[in-house]
Amino acid sequence: TIVVLDYGSQYTQLIARRVRELQVYSEYLPWDVPLERILAVRPKGVILSGGPRSVYEPGAPTLPMGLLETNLPILGICYGMQLLTHALGGVVAQALTREYGHATLQTLRENPLIPVGEHSVWMSHGDRIEQLPTGFIALASSAGSPYAAMAHLERRWFGVQFHPEVHHTPIGREILRRFVVEICGAKQEWTPESIIAEGVRRVREQVGNAPVLSAVSGGVDSSVATALVHRAVGDQLTAVFVDTGMLRKGEREQVETAFRKNLGVRLITVNAVEEFLDRLEGVTDPEGKRKIIGETFIRIFEGQARRLGNPPFLVQGTIYPDVVESSAPDRQKAHKIKSHHNVGGLPEDMTFQLVEPLRYLFKDEVRLVGEALGLPPELVWRQPFPGPGLAVRCLGEITWERLERLREADAIFTGELTAAGLLNQRLMDEPGRIAQAFAVLLPVRSVGVMGDSRTYQEVVALRAVTTEDFMTADWARIPHELLSKIASRIVNEVPGVNRVVYDLTSKPPATIEWE
Ligand code: XMP
Repeated sequence: TIVVLDYGSQYTQLIARRVRELQVYSEYLPWDVPLERILAVRPKGVILSGGPRSVYEPGAPTLPMGLLETNLPILGICYGMQLLTHALGGVVAQALTREYGHATLQTLRENPLIPVGEHSVWMSHGDRIEQLPTGFIALASSAGSPYAAMAHLERRWFGVQFHPEVHHTPIGREILRRFVVEICGAKQEWTPESIIAEGVRRVREQVGNAPVLSAVSGGVDSSVATALVHRAVGDQLTAVFVDTGMLRKGEREQVETAFRKNLGVRLITVNAVEEFLDRLEGVTDPEGKRKIIGETFIRIFEGQARRLGNPPFLVQGTIYPDVVESSAPDRQKAHKIKSHHNVGGLPEDMTFQLVEPLRYLFKDEVRLVGEALGLPPELVWRQPFPGPGLAVRCLGEITWERLERLREADAIFTGELTAAGLLNQRLMDEPGRIAQAFAVLLPVRSVGVMGDSRTYQEVVALRAVTTEDFMTADWARIPHELLSKIASRIVNEVPGVNRVVYDLTSKPPATIEWE
């Protein structure tokens, strides 16, 4: 294990993910946990994240008491480096100019951390190191930082002023590999197969011979959690899939094929389309829609559980970023936003014991595990889809006819993007790639002309965004030719639509979804 201590950087999670990409297990903890909490995971090394503070500010975050006495290798990144410097008697000062963005790093000598040469790195700092602490040597410099990287070779303490964890530092992966694998000596054993084997063991241990229930939504997390539990306990598991009528085109069939046919999971599909549509009749308020869908879902699910004799265990697709404690205030906020997003949450008065086999996994690991379990790529690599489904993309009143209209338009849009290679979730992480794309049906009619007659029909809005974390997003620069083709296909092929518009707002101020 490599422990990442979180000093409030927006990149903390990314550091842990990069370490895991090296197939080494990594966890992140708030900077102020007691040393015992760190030692409890038996770390091979510690990485100190960046952070927004300055080490001289009153109340600035510090090193955990006793960390330097543990003999563990340490890598301080940005604020983490300044903290090491400050704690060991070096001098940190405000740089004359803030270094932000690309910088050229020049390696000064052969060393175990940074390959010799010139590297393009990503900087983002106001303070810098003015004087190294005793025992340290400079490893590299940049125009704005004479000590852009430093080391105490004997103690295996390292500091870098730049961010090795971001895409914009191409050499970063190698630097992290050298630290984690060569300097810390961590074993590269964190593979999908080992994650599955460990997950299967834990699930078996937890549930014994008891029956287990799972709610499959078609989303990645619930699907992979279900497949993993099925691998562990086979027919002790019953999965329930509620067709709310708010699904995308072909989604129900896809889920049924993947689970029932390919994996042999006992899957019950509940056709609840009419019930959902009845309850949503006349409702146009977005929060009203969310509430009704959430409540209806729970009622139906409770009914199914009763029918199955109320199994004691329930599978949940909770993943690591949902559970982890963090000291970064914006991430705590992010969690809150997400929790009331979640539909299909637990009925409060039901007393299930939760089986959460993905609790330790990042999203990309969940996907790799899903593939290794035999789930189809379309399901494992699909874009995020809100719990209330198309209900929040069908603005205004929800009717079957309008849902069908939306489904068709959405299928054309995403189909064309996929065919053009622009919507490939496998590459979602690459900067500039489309992370999410969908159609929205507006409750607005406009005049058009088709053939010789006047039309008065609905408008479809297309939304496509690039984003790293869905907290901020930019609208995707889709080639005009392709947009043109998509628009004309939608107007020609989808009855009831005579106009298509493209959403040009970023988040903030807009959100990704329209409701
Ligand atoms: P917004 O619209 O807030 O969306 O920019 C950010 C991400 O969250 C998804 N989203 C939801 N997910 N239930 C969910 O499970 C919801 O009610 C919900 N609303 C938005 C959205 O698709 C995007 O990926």
